[in-house]
Amino acid sequence: MKNREKGIRQDLFPSAQDAGLAETLDDPEEVLACLLDAERRGELYPFYHRLRTLAPVHSTQVAGLPPGCFVLTRFRDVDRVARSSSAVNDPRTAKVFDHDGTGEGAFYRVMSNAMLFLEKSTHDRVRRLVYKAFTPLAVAPLRDLAETVANELIDAVEADGVMDFVGDFAYPYPLRAIMRLLGLPREAESTIETWAWDFSRAGDPMSATPEIIARGNAAAVGYYGFFERFLEEKRRAPGDDLTSMLIMAEDEAGALSRAEVISTLVLLIQAGHDTTADLLGNAMVGLFRHPDEFERLRRSPGLLPRATEELLRYDTSVQMSMRLVREEIILDGVKISAGSMVVLGYGAANRDPEIFPDPDRLDLDRDPTHLSFSSGAYFCLGNSLARTEIQTALAALFTRLPTIRPEGGDFVQRWTTRLRGPLELRVAWD
Ligand code: HEM
Repeated sequence: MKNREKGIRQDLFPSAQDAGLAETLDDPEEVLACLLDAERRGELYPFYHRLRTLAPVHSTQVAGLPPGCFVLTRFRDVDRVARSSSAVNDPRTAKVFDHDGTGEGAFYRVMSNAMLFLEKSTHDRVRRLVYKAFTPLAVAPLRDLAETVANELIDAVEADGVMDFVGDFAYPYPLRAIMRLLGLPREAESTIETWAWDFSRAGDPMSATPEIIARGNAAAVGYYGFFERFLEEKRRAPGDDLTSMLIMAEDEAGALSRAEVISTLVLLIQAGHDTTADLLGNAMVGLFRHPDEFERLRRSPGLLPRATEELLRYDTSVQMSMRLVREEIILDGVKISAGSMVVLGYGAANRDPEIFPDPDRLDLDRDPTHLSFSSGAYFCLGNSLARTEIQTALAALFTRLPTIRPEGGDFVQRWTTRLRGPLELRVAWD
């Protein structure tokens, strides 16, 4: 059984009052403390606007972030640092996952070997090799797989006329799609779904309890044992799935090691499901809040590719990420010295009024620009998978459940800070 995740109930149609509290705060530290606190952040975006106005490059001592780290909320700053070779992901940014401080926990070992947290030159080598596995042949089946999974999930609830959009659709959908793209056996899907859930819950340092951490470690052990056996089988009898491509990818320095392949498989499952699930949940909330745009999209499927970009901008699932600064960076006269940590506020950057007029409005005709997949050296490797999955899911929902609408006036938002999305969103249809 899944461990429970904490959530917070929110109005689906909030009043303008919700924006009021942020406006009254003059201390950036207090604004940031609210932002990091699920009980206080409410609608979130008013706090980003306030922090951007008060201190767009803000050095903080607030609990929950590395002391003295800089928080960036302007598009141009986030973009510049994301593209800069002076700021890197690094094993030190994975230290937050070393829950018991020994460096020995199974969860920490898998995370610190994941490409995202490797030292720069190793990261670049692993990334190049993994990119080679994302061949057109390996990812071509995704659209059909995604369509099949979306329809399977809708088949299971269609006659009920109601569902929890997250639990019944948005969460299992990308997870099953990536498992099938990797060629994992169907009979392992439900075990992997449990590991994926537990592993992910241990990855949010702000909300991890001892039970969540223990289950995260157990999931890492389960993953490792399973993939060791699975890779043996794939080596003996490779197929045309993404796992076989990963094993075969080689450059002049050779192929990925067994540990690197396993950490990559875990990363692809983990980075490839919560993110898209949360994005779909946020997209649905955003569309419910903008009924005219919702109606336009439902009637004109041709708008889907462009609408997907605006939905990614409007309320992204990966709200922030960390970088370690290797060489001094100066942003608008503020010196960020080597050794500092920086928080890249992707969600805040996506609502920067300097780039997006009327940023809090969902506008499906807007120019497709956002930082939801980051930019530069760590630009999301799964961006085209995610885009395909989002478009396919919305198309299937609008075709099969054209009268889909909210059931009730609220939903449950996840407690997490780095990842944002609903935990429960009740919907109904005729
Ligand atoms: C809406 C869905 C998604 C969003 C918003 C998203 C966002 C991101 C972001 C912001 C990063 C950069 C992290 C950083 O700054 O440190 C990233 C990296 C990454 N993403 Fe995604 N992602 C999504 C879906 C996916 C999918 C479906 C996959 C694969 C199946 C995937 C695989 C990865 C990988 C492997 C990296 C690491 C790249 C590297 O270290 O060079 N993502 N993603």
